[in-house]
Amino acid sequence: MASKVKPQEQTEVSEAQIAVHWKEEGFYPPSEKFKPQANMRDPHILEKFGLDKFPDCFREYADMLTWFEPYRTVLDTSDAPFWKWFVGGKINASYNCVDRHLAKYGSKAAFIFVPEPEGEPDVVINYQELHTRVNEVAALLRGLGLKAGDRVTFHMPMVPELPITMLACARLGIIHSQVFGGFSGQACGSRIQDSGSRVLITMDSYWRNGTLVDHKANADIAVRTAKELGQDVDRVLVWQRYPGKYSAKTPMVPGRDSFVNDLLKDYKGMKVEPVALPSEGPLFLMYSSGTTGKPKGAQHSIAGYLAYVTATSRWILDIHPEDVYWCMADIGWITGHSYIVYGPLANAGTSVLYEGVPTFPDAGRPWRIAERLGVNIFHTAPTAIRMLRKLGPQEPRKYKYQFKSMTTVGEPIEPEAWRWYYDEVGKREAVITDTWWLTETGGFLCTTVPAIHPMKPGSCGPGAPGIHPVIYDETGAEIPRGSGKAGNICIRNPWPGIMQTIWGDRDRYVKTYYAKYNRNPKSKDWRDWPFMCGDGAVQAADGYYRILGRIDDVINVAGHRLGTKELESACLTVPEVAEAAVVPVQDELKGRVPEVYIAVKPGVPAGQDMIDRVVKAIEEVIGKIARPKRVYIVPDMPKTRSGKIMRRVLAAISNRRDVGDVTTLANPDVVEQIRTLVQGKDVVATQEELPEDIAKFGEVE
Ligand code: WTA
Repeated sequence: MASKVKPQEQTEVSEAQIAVHWKEEGFYPPSEKFKPQANMRDPHILEKFGLDKFPDCFREYADMLTWFEPYRTVLDTSDAPFWKWFVGGKINASYNCVDRHLAKYGSKAAFIFVPEPEGEPDVVINYQELHTRVNEVAALLRGLGLKAGDRVTFHMPMVPELPITMLACARLGIIHSQVFGGFSGQACGSRIQDSGSRVLITMDSYWRNGTLVDHKANADIAVRTAKELGQDVDRVLVWQRYPGKYSAKTPMVPGRDSFVNDLLKDYKGMKVEPVALPSEGPLFLMYSSGTTGKPKGAQHSIAGYLAYVTATSRWILDIHPEDVYWCMADIGWITGHSYIVYGPLANAGTSVLYEGVPTFPDAGRPWRIAERLGVNIFHTAPTAIRMLRKLGPQEPRKYKYQFKSMTTVGEPIEPEAWRWYYDEVGKREAVITDTWWLTETGGFLCTTVPAIHPMKPGSCGPGAPGIHPVIYDETGAEIPRGSGKAGNICIRNPWPGIMQTIWGDRDRYVKTYYAKYNRNPKSKDWRDWPFMCGDGAVQAADGYYRILGRIDDVINVAGHRLGTKELESACLTVPEVAEAAVVPVQDELKGRVPEVYIAVKPGVPAGQDMIDRVVKAIEEVIGKIARPKRVYIVPDMPKTRSGKIMRRVLAAISNRRDVGDVTTLANPDVVEQIRTLVQGKDVVATQEELPEDIAKFGEVE
């Protein structure tokens, strides 16, 4: 096969094909109780979505939506690789998630909000109430002059006002860009600037681990940061955690800041017709970390995205309108957008929103909530599973809930954690789907179809219906299943949920996801454009994929992608820091955590104060989620002769592994100095192989 790989990379074949040593796990069949009630029971479903039926097979997904005008073309590839799905159609996501359910499910709960303080009552919002609230907020946004195509940034916590405001935007075609509430004001500001938003919507405060956080403070920092970067924000709309009462200390800025609840008084009971928007209009932006420091806004479409998350919520999560579904992710991440808000609501589901941390006030909290609300579908990440297992291994037994299906997402799950999830949380009755996908992909890429495929701990399974994965080595040759070799997992074909582009940066979109394996940059044939996901993977003889982690320099901390370059530039905001390098370290609970190496400028004392300031800088620029496990001040960074920092060497040291041959470095002596600093005088390094993502960390630059 022809491929576009530079000749010098050809020699790396053997290195790229690192053998993967792992024990084959056994299969677990879905329970007999689950199978007959499942939405998708056709054993031939994957064949029905075979490549020979592509792209027409995806008509079935579009048929799950209600259209104002039918589409004409299933997939338009004329501007490859900028795919256009269901072209010619007119549609509205808010209508599909709310209005169309009113007749049948008006009095059924759409959201159940569970506040973190256990004494506070749940807030149940049925579809009728949701309709009223979405319309009022849409009327307010329209009243502010906002219209289809405008961007609005949100920096909201996990409260019902977040999906309400999302759906209000979708009603008008306003592109929402929600920044994870735990990100810092600065991180929010840089995303405001990139998206060109003139309006920021936030909330005064929210509960997190027993504290009522002053969140409004972040809005002021965000607006200031955006202004410094050249983007003015005219309006800051502040929701109140307790309506009618201001729960933050930070003052409101006259002329700029308003309480949403005050403004809404003028829009009471108002209705806004959902706008008939083109299929390929953008629905939202979701910023994600890449290999450079600049955040990239994954732009998702209205129709393709909504069709994809609707179908996968129905077939994979197995949501029926009668179910009570709870995904513990945060709406600030893609999982929350796709599988708390859009997918479940398009299916008339009942979606639980929990404000706080799962272990507050104790590790029994999720199971108490599940019992009280009758949750029967549960969705979370390995990091939460490990935490709940560590703090309360027996807790699930104390509560009388029963899940029928469960999902894990965000990072690879160790078979041991998987088995606890299956045995204790699922009580050996619930099926588990291990769903592998990315912000960029809108919805699931690999997963089992739960009533059809047996589960295998640690493996996500085959491609989802209509998704055709392939693993390539560095030269573009396919790595066959069962070979035990790992490579770069790609998807052969586009699918409706795929991002449209990186907001404002077409070149970066092509370069990041396609350049490596594209066969002809001029081609309009989708077969020439496999989508590179950025993960290492191996395919077993049975066809199931096992994901090994990121192959770029992105660190997946507790299921959240953090860009190494972003972390490093945060360190460099401390003026005394000359150089910074960030590496991933294995962590029992969070999967990976960052460790930071810094070199200070000449004459600067290397003390604890320096370390504290670096940690603070990271928290301010990115957020507490990125807090490093350790910060080391080193005399110099290990470098190649061309001056490139060898992060791989630092990663080996941090992970207590042998550093290998460093004689080709410009400064090999410094490696031993750093090793002693980190590991102590005695050799503690083992020869044990590093996980693939760490072993190859920083190779792609
Ligand atoms: C990782 C989250 C193993 C992977 C939806 C991917 C996983 C990155 C899984 C995307 C899984 C996600 N098994 N690894 N089931 N799910 N990942 O953009 O490395 O926040 O590239 O999207 O998470 O993270 P993102």
